[in-house]
Amino acid sequence: MEILLTGGAGFIGSAVAAQLAAAGHRVRVLDALLPAAHPHGRAGVDLPAGVDLLVGDVRDPAAVDRALRGVDAVCHQAAMVGLGQDFADAPAYVSCNELGTAVLLAGMARAGVDRLLLAGSMVVYGEGRYECPAHGVVPAAPRRQADLAAGRFEPPCPHCGAALLPGLTAEDAPVDPRNVYASTKLAQEHLAAAWARACGGAVLTLRYHNVYGPRMPRDTPYAGVAAIFRSALAAGRAPQVFEDGRQRRDFVHVADVAAANALALAALADCAPGTVRAYNTGSGTVRTVGELAAALAAAVGGPAPVVTGEYRLGDVRHVTADSARLRTELGWRPAVEFTAGMAQFAAAATR
Ligand SMILES: NC(=O)c1ccc[n+]([C@@H]2O[C@H](COP(=O)([O-])OP(=O)(O)OC[C@H]3O[C@@H](n4cnc5c(N)ncnc54)[C@H](O)[C@@H]3O)[C@@H](O)[C@H]2O)c1
Repeated sequence: MEILLTGGAGFIGSAVAAQLAAAGHRVRVLDALLPAAHPHGRAGVDLPAGVDLLVGDVRDPAAVDRALRGVDAVCHQAAMVGLGQDFADAPAYVSCNELGTAVLLAGMARAGVDRLLLAGSMVVYGEGRYECPAHGVVPAAPRRQADLAAGRFEPPCPHCGAALLPGLTAEDAPVDPRNVYASTKLAQEHLAAAWARACGGAVLTLRYHNVYGPRMPRDTPYAGVAAIFRSALAAGRAPQVFEDGRQRRDFVHVADVAAANALALAALADCAPGTVRAYNTGSGTVRTVGELAAALAAAVGGPAPVVTGEYRLGDVRHVTADSARLRTELGWRPAVEFTAGMAQFAAAATR
């Protein structure tokens, strides 16, 4: 296949590019090399030989039209990621992620390209799935600043205030984005669904959980927690673990995420017009943020993590995926186990 890979110069995109190129696909990358993701510009980009890099913005219709020539399918990874610095970032997130996706989809409609793989995110769920011993499955309300400041990190049952038991979130769970980035990731899914219906296209969304691995960006307000801990250890400092360190997450290796992209792109060829389907993309193993810090510190023989009790308002307490759909429908099997993957990541280069 000839594949347009937006955001292909980024952390996940470059791993996807490498796997697709190795499988014999022709890959064309369209990437704006955003300064937050690429402080060294083109010099920091690591793409395999044979992959074309077009430096351009998905919000630019002319760049999109050029990039779409002769393309069979689009793999849309380009986005502004992370929690950002403060609310002043909101217009930039909406512009890159929502306007960018709309311009790309309009270009696909013009060019008659009808297959889309979208890099989605588990952030669309907000808090994950919770059960109250008395009231069954309940929605967890956003956590209040006063509770967080007092060290009450677990969201209570909205009916009786009892402690909730976190569970695995499936794709049909209600969506409830809790920050600007999350709302733009959900908007991307809605735009793609509208495109599929209007134009007879097919879209598969991979809702990634916490992705880690080589070429992960260093610690910026836009980076993931694994990169933040990794950078602290590289500087000889103890990882600072927020809340009480018991936040549950699913850490999935970037090579496994790239493999999921390759499978989903192949599956798109057999999808009926109008197909809209989402797949959680997590390792299936629940870990805590404290365990993540401990694994990285142990891997480099660095200082033990420090639990600080600090918090960020937009963070959710627990969210872990049930990725059974991706396994059963697309035959995906994550291959990188947590401890081995973290040891390799601790020693690998960041971007
Ligand atoms: N890293 C994670 O844990 C994670 C989790 C869930 C979802 N995702 C999603 O995966 C995708 C890739 O994320 P990543 O972690 O590799 O981030 P990244 O910042 O490393 O890569 C994103 C790339 O997109 C490019 N880009 C951004 N806006 C653009 C625009 N308007 N036009 C063209 N290029 C643009 C950037 O220059 C960058 O190279 C994103 O869609 C993100 O929302 C990532």
